[in-house]
Amino acid sequence: MPEPLILGVESSCDETGVAFVRGNTLLADVVASSVDQHARFGGVVPEVASRAHLEALLPTIKRSCEEAGHRLSDVDAIAVTSGPGLAGALMVGVAAAKALAWALDKPLYGVNHLAAHVCADVLDHGPLPEPTAALLVSGGHTNLLMVRDIASDVEELGGTIDDAAGEAFDKVARVLELPYPGGPHIEAAAASGDPAAIRFPRGLTSRKDLERHRFDYSFSGLKTAVVRWVQERQNAGETVPVADVAASFNEAVADVLTRKAIDACQEYGVSDLQIGGGVTANSRLRAMAQERCDAAGISLRVPRVRLCTDNGAMVAALGSQMVQRGLAPSSLDLPADSSMPVSQTKAS
Ligand code: KG4
Ligand code: ZN
Repeated sequence: MPEPLILGVESSCDETGVAFVRGNTLLADVVASSVDQHARFGGVVPEVASRAHLEALLPTIKRSCEEAGHRLSDVDAIAVTSGPGLAGALMVGVAAAKALAWALDKPLYGVNHLAAHVCADVLDHGPLPEPTAALLVSGGHTNLLMVRDIASDVEELGGTIDDAAGEAFDKVARVLELPYPGGPHIEAAAASGDPAAIRFPRGLTSRKDLERHRFDYSFSGLKTAVVRWVQERQNAGETVPVADVAASFNEAVADVLTRKAIDACQEYGVSDLQIGGGVTANSRLRAMAQERCDAAGISLRVPRVRLCTDNGAMVAALGSQMVQRGLAPSSLDLPADSSMPVSQTKAS
């Protein structure tokens, strides 16, 4: 008997993703992104994203079936992102997944997008050690999680109290007149800069802040510090050393992200750290995480970049874990829940 075949549908932000997973094996992963449509606004426009999902969903399902060499009728269960995310965007994927589950008479699993990000790693490195600490960094999220069972027991240790890490990259890029999305452009500019040129602030790391926000992040003060620093140079008629600003900013973000993640591993006595989300594409973040994990005796798991950004594969992977554990499916009237808490891995 082959393991069950799971179809995964993702539509929480600006990527429409449809994928097939069997067990822990990825068979097809097709993503249509509306990122280009948001570029001139400097951030994701929810209405534009919802419309793009509507247009992309059916062609993406079709391409994914072709890539997997499967028909929809081969599917044993369907998994869809129930939340968190943009309400209108989520609704498109949820409605489509319900229609498929109804028409095919297959169980439907509404899964948590954040837990799904962590679960993507299973497709590259096999089952997650439990417990695993997870650091999730993207344009929409910055979360530190304790994963005791990826399908049913995920605790949020901390999160950002203002901007997400990727959002900070995007906003700082705008100040430096670099294109959207800013992360890759900041990284490219940073390559020729000095990360120690400017000592930008590390948010929520003072002793007083740590009392209340041990595992929380804040990037808004850092962003403001960069803006001020740049404006002062401009007002003085000096040229802005873009490479040094980019490198110093990148260093500050990577430093605080990895420092708190390692602290969480040590405080909870966990020896595995998993990192995901679009910002994980950042080579300085990866290198620093590896160095610090090595020094602390923690083993680091980072999936390939394509699995770090939003996709249907991670959703199918989490649905597959739920099926493998024999969890009950969600009901067919499951909601698109824009603020679904991470502790709720599955919609009821
Ligand atoms: O996971 P993702 O594709 O979408 C969201 O769920 O948000 O993450 C997108 C974010 C953007 O803010 C982008 O600037 C950032 O990831 N990003 C990077 C890099 N590549 C993408 N940030 C830093 N360095 C990069 N190389
Ligand atoms: Zn995401």
